[in-house]
Amino acid sequence: MKLAVSDLRAWYGPAQILFDVALDVGPGEVVALLGRNGAGKSTTFKAIVGLVERRGRVAFEGRDLGAAETHAIARAGLGYVPEERRIFTELTVAENLEVGRQAPRPGAPTWEPETLYRLFPNLSEMRNRPGGRMSGGEQQMLTIARTLMGNPSLVLLDEPSEGLAPKIVEEMATAILAMKREGLSLLISEQNLHFAKLISDRAVILERGRVRFAGTMAELEADETVRDSFLAM
Ligand SMILES: Nc1ncnc2c1ncn2[C@@H]1O[C@H](COP(=O)(O)OP(=O)(O)O)[C@@H](O)[C@H]1O
Ligand SMILES: [Mg+2]
Repeated sequence: MKLAVSDLRAWYGPAQILFDVALDVGPGEVVALLGRNGAGKSTTFKAIVGLVERRGRVAFEGRDLGAAETHAIARAGLGYVPEERRIFTELTVAENLEVGRQAPRPGAPTWEPETLYRLFPNLSEMRNRPGGRMSGGEQQMLTIARTLMGNPSLVLLDEPSEGLAPKIVEEMATAILAMKREGLSLLISEQNLHFAKLISDRAVILERGRVRFAGTMAELEADETVRDSFLAM
């Protein structure tokens, strides 16, 4: 397994949010982390990268990062794209990409601005535009592209389709499938089941900080009870 998480618990102050979360992502696999608003998807990502108080096991390429610092986790090749878009508004698209540049990493796909412009053609047309003068969807794509400049071997993407126009959602799905073809492993949180079906091999469903379902997309497709109980209509 590329990423194997088990017995993961997390807290905000005294409030425990995650309980014994277990999930894994194989090499080149796309796994969807599903669940309604407030289920604990973003907290799971923050716990994996060490941004909240957490306990448990986070094995990344066989190394336990369950107690590692956030910067060490990023250096190990685990990329994280948070829900809120983090671009430098004063810098151009091209400059934002350079900020993310890291050395190539053995066993992980290597990205350059030109390959990323092919992945996100919109960005190609605005490479000299300041980040602050882009739409939310374009900023989302730039955040992902900048993360890829670090040549990660696995990326956590927190709700990449959120707030995007339908046409941009399709472009995002195409880009994610292209990343998968390059050999990247992805764990993607989603509330949009249609979008998740386009891109994922397997799904894990959270509800109130616990895993309620883990299986293939076909198994989820066949299980109406699970969908009705744990996913937004
Ligand atoms: N900074 C925070 N402080 C306290 N509680 C939080 C914080 N962020 C999220 N929560 C709570 O943690 C739970 C899980 O939230 P979150 O992981 O953001 O869910 P999701 O991403 O699935 O919508 C929710 O009950 C939410 O209210
Ligand atoms: Mg969230």
